[in-house]
Amino acid sequence: MNDLTRVSISLESALLDAFDHTIVAAKGYATRSEAIRDLIRDRLIREEAERAEGEQVAVVTLVYDHHARELAARLIDKQHHHHDLVVSSLHVHLGERHCLEVSILRGPGEKVTHLGDELLATKGVLHGEITYTSDEDNLKRWQ
Ligand code: NI
Repeated sequence: MNDLTRVSISLESALLDAFDHTIVAAKGYATRSEAIRDLIRDRLIREEAERAEGEQVAVVTLVYDHHARELAARLIDKQHHHHDLVVSSLHVHLGERHCLEVSILRGPGEKVTHLGDELLATKGVLHGEITYTSDEDNLKRWQ
């Protein structure tokens, strides 16, 4: 870390107590500052993901029933169609029916968001989400 700036903020006591208890202690942060830095980075990454112009990195999690008619094949087709954006995928058979698939997408922000949304919106996907992270250059800006 370099170029640290000390800031002072005012918070309601109850809000600070809840933060210390629910985030700092429960998540095992060494300091409150580290927890706050993570919150700020997380918010910046989310905000920037929505208007990303450069490269974007995202993790897409999908849970689906592989008995659903041609769903697995449709999901695979979509990923093959955008193979340049799909860095890697992990498939876990959760049980007799359900599959968990985690894919890492990387590429132009708009295309990554579009593919992630398309996968989540595929009929038969029961649960899922897109988690945006950031690339090397973005992360370096905040260190
Ligand atoms: Ni499976």
